[in-house]
Amino acid sequence: MTEPHQAGFKSIPIEMQPGTYQWCACGLSKNQPFCDDSHIGTSFEPVEVVITEARKYSWCACKGSSKKPFCDGSHKQLPEFVAYMEMIAVQAAPIQAGNI
Ligand code: FES
Repeated sequence: MTEPHQAGFKSIPIEMQPGTYQWCACGLSKNQPFCDDSHIGTSFEPVEVVITEARKYSWCACKGSSKKPFCDGSHKQLPEFVAYMEMIAVQAAPIQAGNI
């Protein structure tokens, strides 16, 4: 495994309290965005994050952010995200006689 697994295609917003956290860099954790030791046996290690201010943080789930561990919107460039947004747009389109 040389590339991280994309654990999601949008950010994970969480109200955080000050403390030290381990962000999952491999994308395999079942407790995203945090490490659950699923990286063991891979070349990945969790990223230690020290939160000093209690507030909402947007954690990166696609593992492609340039501001890891936080989201920078990179997931919006992923083909899976684009396809998902297109699917939602199709479902949300009003039904017209000509569309059926
Ligand atoms: S489970 Fe992904 S870095 Fe630990």
